[in-house]
Amino acid sequence: MTVGTVLITGGTGYIGSFTSLALLENDYNVVIVDNLYNSSKVALDRIELICGKRPVFYEADVTDEKALDDIFAEHPDIDSVIHFAALKAVGESSVIPLEYYRVNVGGSIALLRSMSKHDVTNIVFSSSATVYGDATRFENMIPIPEHCPIGPTNTYGRTKSMIEQVITDHVEAQRRNLKKADKPYEQWNGALLRYFNPCGAHPSGVMGEDPQGVPYNLLPLLGKVATGDMEKLKVFGTDYASRDGTAIRDYIHVLDLARGHLMALNYLREQKPGVKAWNLGSGRGSTVLEIIKAFSSVVGRDLPYEVVDRRPGDVLDLTANPALANKELQWKTELSMEDACADLWRWVSNNPQGYRQAPPAK
Ligand code: NAD
Ligand code: WQD
Repeated sequence: MTVGTVLITGGTGYIGSFTSLALLENDYNVVIVDNLYNSSKVALDRIELICGKRPVFYEADVTDEKALDDIFAEHPDIDSVIHFAALKAVGESSVIPLEYYRVNVGGSIALLRSMSKHDVTNIVFSSSATVYGDATRFENMIPIPEHCPIGPTNTYGRTKSMIEQVITDHVEAQRRNLKKADKPYEQWNGALLRYFNPCGAHPSGVMGEDPQGVPYNLLPLLGKVATGDMEKLKVFGTDYASRDGTAIRDYIHVLDLARGHLMALNYLREQKPGVKAWNLGSGRGSTVLEIIKAFSSVVGRDLPYEVVDRRPGDVLDLTANPALANKELQWKTELSMEDACADLWRWVSNNPQGYRQAPPAK
């Protein structure tokens, strides 16, 4: 029996593909829209390989409102959207800011407009811990709770905080207008999910992160060092006020993150809370050197690194307080950073070319 049908934008991407899998495994139908800018259709094969079901796929751009209208018209059973499609490279966002605002903010507006025309009224949005900026500027805000004032320090982060505002304003206006017209208004709901540092891969070793081009996140880079594609890792600064001088992040396994989307979607559909933000993190912070040690341990040898200057824009500590999601969404992480390292290594060593190689035999 099907629970419902969900449109997933960016569903062939890293987190989107794992969330599509989690939904299919929990009896949702999944329709994906993605322009394949940073992903590959092979992700669909891998989803099917793992769960025996294949999402419906449309290659289209989320800024194309007409294309979204056509998809909703073709699938009148869609009642919810999980919105991942975005550009996400922090450094690049300050080089081509208009492109980031056009795709991320413009794409979200096109999506909300199209949803409204087709009475699709639940939206789960990929926000980011980056909206908090440097939470250490406040006292007692580490681990970071949702009520910590936001203050993104880069263009990418500003697109995320703007979209949070756009969704909030739109959902609240829809609820007010419908209520005034004496129509059911509670069905308009939004979840703003602020992820900390997603990482890891499927334990089967057949599905993982496969960014086009050079990765810039710590764990994928360590993967490149382990396979010999990169000589060594650069550690960005050892002069932070942490236990070993390197910066602290909350690394969350992508399987836990995907399950968080399922729980948030279920919560919106059942509780109809309006718009709410939730942190999706483990509550456990790890330093860069601790990550290098954990990954080296699963690889079975010390991975080379050199210490360089701090990366501009980096902050000391981004660790989540996940208490609200624990309580309201009944969600908490079940996998550790060490599990993520082991799963990432299995993925990287089985698929050195990512999805650009033949899929494994069934
Ligand atoms: P990803 O790049 O793997 O996935 C994004 C997907 O969106 C890709 O498949 C890409 O092809 C697609 N896309 C991009 N522009 C599009 C467009 N105009 N139309 C249609 N599809 C488009 O990234 P991810 O790591 O899976 O991130 C998913 C979401 O989560 C993003 O919104 C990202 O900002 C957010 N997020 C990611 C992280 C992280 O560290 N990975 C952390 C916090 C938030
Ligand atoms: C993690 C730690 C680096 C690379 C970014 C985005 C954030 C979110 C997640 C989307 C930091 C250190 C890294 C390297 C290093 N994405 N590092 N050498 O910066 O915490 O978060 O991805 O929303 O918005 O900003 O993640 O993986 O780049 O870095 O020492 O070569 O590893 O300084 O302390 P970050 P990251």
